Amino acid sequence: MNAHRSHNTEPAAAGSSGDAGRAGVAALAVTCARGLAPVLADELRAVGRAAVVVEETCVESRGTLADCEELNLRLRTAHRVLWLWGEFEAGSEADLYRGVKGLAWEDVLRTDRPFMVRAASSGAGMSERAAALRTKDAIADRMRSRLGRRPDSTSKPHGAVVVVHWVASRCRLFLDTSGVPLSFRGYRRRAVAAPLRETLAAGVLLGAGWRGQAPLANPMCGSGTIAIEAAWIAARRAPGVLRRSFAFMNLRGFDADAWEDRRRRAAAEERPVGVPIVAADVDGAAVAAARANARAAGVEDAIRLAVAELADTPPAGRGAWYVLNPAWGMRIGGGEEEVAVTHAAIGRFLRARADGGRAVVISGHLRMSRRIGLRLARRWTVFHGPVECRVLEFELGGPPDRSAAASGFERYGPV
Ligand SMILES: C[S@@+](CC[C@H](N)C(=O)[O-])C[C@H]1O[C@@H](n2cnc3c(N)ncnc32)[C@H](O)[C@@H]1O
Repeated sequence: MNAHRSHNTEPAAAGSSGDAGRAGVAALAVTCARGLAPVLADELRAVGRAAVVVEETCVESRGTLADCEELNLRLRTAHRVLWLWGEFEAGSEADLYRGVKGLAWEDVLRTDRPFMVRAASSGAGMSERAAALRTKDAIADRMRSRLGRRPDSTSKPHGAVVVVHWVASRCRLFLDTSGVPLSFRGYRRRAVAAPLRETLAAGVLLGAGWRGQAPLANPMCGSGTIAIEAAWIAARRAPGVLRRSFAFMNLRGFDADAWEDRRRRAAAEERPVGVPIVAADVDGAAVAAARANARAAGVEDAIRLAVAELADTPPAGRGAWYVLNPAWGMRIGGGEEEVAVTHAAIGRFLRARADGGRAVVISGHLRMSRRIGLRLARRWTVFHGPVECRVLEFELGGPPDRSAAASGFERYGPV
């Protein structure tokens, strides 16, 4: 290890457990978009971790702070990786203050890095904001009493981040090791209207079984998120490799050299994208954005980009996967009629291309799957922020579901 490259040089506080705090195994709470917890759990298991889905948006595991670094680097569907630092019973504001002050913050926080406190839930009738403020005061008082100094506090996640999770009388204090959510991969240079969150695009691809095993086309690609995430999965590219900043970098004992080694090891596992990937959009500005993003993501050469109307999307190859995210009327205009016309056009396009591949449509409209007129292989729900979406999976190559295709728009029942 080159000490000069490790920027955490603050000495351990006398009597503190120092790096032992970092090395301790604790509960991990890994958060994700609603609907993706089973996919996230599979991802955790694939990197050798236990995983229990405890909420629709949270999977629990166990590990050290170093394990958290690895998970921030490798998990595609995770939003944040939280590491449990302490828990206690609290029935009042005074209990909260006492409990937080009783934890050894000097073992994990640095006085030269700002910290932020966020309350995910709060008890004893306190607002989340009030609970976060009281927690911040208790941490500051603890640090001042142990080290004679306290770190600045901030309202932005650019330093260390502490999360309060207080449900009934149980108060849990986590270190958020991610800070800025992991959907910010670092490649989005340009956005278009209604871009898909990177973690959601990756989660839908993984949940549908995409591992880079077939050609893939992403018509209506917008800023290219689906095609880029598909290329990264095919290339085994770790989703955190481009990010320069994670909250764990502001914790005591962070070893910049070890982190660089970790990144290098992940990069060494990359392989060329072995299948054709096509991304197209009718809007030239969207394709320009997708190109800039693909270049920043290092997969410009792996993605064939084209300005094309849906029906003219360049073919990707036999047995291709088609992954589409049509506009959601409520976000970027367009009424239900227009959305129905778009879904019907997607159905015609997919039937014309059907040759044994697969289609995955991420639709913000819950009753549109019949409009596509193909036999549904699987339907599941994900949330893009507050928007409930359906992931519709179709096998291409089976006989078209003519009864559904022929049914009128008025006759769609909820699906
Ligand atoms: C919701 S956006 C896709 C966003 C994309 N998933 C992303 O992450 O940026 C829908 C896209 O469909 C494109 N589009 C709409 N109608 C189209 C058509 N008939 N043919 C091709 N593209 C179309 C729009 O230009 C828009 O970029």
